[in-house]
Amino acid sequence: MTALADLDTPVVTVDLDIMRENIRRVQAHLARHGIGNRPHIKTHKIPEIGKMQIAAGATGITCQKLGEVEVFVDAGVTDDILLTFNILGEPKTDRLMTLVKRVRRLAVVLDNDVVAQALSDAAARHGVDLHFLVECDTGFGRTGVQTPDEAFALARRAMRLPRMRFDGLMTFPNRDPNTRDFFDAALSLFKQAGIPVPVVSGGGTPALFTAQNFPMLTEHRAGTCVYNDAMVVSTGTAGWENCAMRVRATVVSRPTATRAILDAGSKVLTSDLYFMKGYGHVMEYPEAAITALSEEHGTVDLSACAERPKVGDVVHVVPNHCCVVTNMVDEVYGVRNGAVEVVWPVAARGKIR
Ligand SMILES: Cc1ncc(COP(=O)(O)O)c(C=O)c1O
Repeated sequence: MTALADLDTPVVTVDLDIMRENIRRVQAHLARHGIGNRPHIKTHKIPEIGKMQIAAGATGITCQKLGEVEVFVDAGVTDDILLTFNILGEPKTDRLMTLVKRVRRLAVVLDNDVVAQALSDAAARHGVDLHFLVECDTGFGRTGVQTPDEAFALARRAMRLPRMRFDGLMTFPNRDPNTRDFFDAALSLFKQAGIPVPVVSGGGTPALFTAQNFPMLTEHRAGTCVYNDAMVVSTGTAGWENCAMRVRATVVSRPTATRAILDAGSKVLTSDLYFMKGYGHVMEYPEAAITALSEEHGTVDLSACAERPKVGDVVHVVPNHCCVVTNMVDEVYGVRNGAVEVVWPVAARGKIR
């Protein structure tokens, strides 16, 4: 068995005990409040981890891209998948309908009539029924219909199209109080019209442990919480001890008394600042700041550190945003007690279509 100490750098590791505990804690919290857990696999892109989440009690998984669904279905995850993206264009709608035939329940989201019509046409062409949720923008300012009235009207139009089956409403992320107000208003419109809304799907790791404040949610989709990262720690949702993903890097240069250079730059840590001040948290030197990244160099300011690393020392960096780091590497190393127990190919790496 390879020792962690022998892993060449830079390398992305996942602490298996921390990850298992993260999976358990998320599942326990949502189950306690009677909310289904539908983890978003874009964080790890590894079917084996998705299967662990399902084994822990998840009702199904969330994917962002068709390519991710294809990889997970090929790996045997075929029970219950929600695809949270407007799927547009015949090449994609054809792939989607092929997948619908391979998954017990595959649902998609939509937020406009163009997508609804194209999905209906494709479903009719392929002779399948398509389950859909209407995506609602409850404050994030990304995709989603803008008002409860629009949600109701779009759902009604889309459910009248051939082969389209209305399953419910979806948002990202839960915002207090906007999401509750939006869903309350929308649900009363559906109720007045006698239209059942079996699924109300919320999401987001920072919103995870307050999901119970949105009593209408039937399920919650969180991704980042499987690993956690510096962004999640900054929101108070997790501590450094809950961060499973680390970028193991070597100090390759100490050009000045206050500067260290790591062999991990933007091609591992990514340049995603994610509202943070630096580019990651150095576990061994918590006062250090990763102030700049070149592609292969990480510049660390050690001014605030009493102890400072020397050339050749190895450090472990919790990235700002673990989901994007996942997409940078071919494999991640699952480690426990200083040993590598498993090497997982990041099977859905690069699946952006
Ligand atoms: C649609 C959707 N649902 C759920 C999530 C999961 O959010 P988080 O990574 O904060 O857990 C995301 C994240 O990007 C998302 O876009």
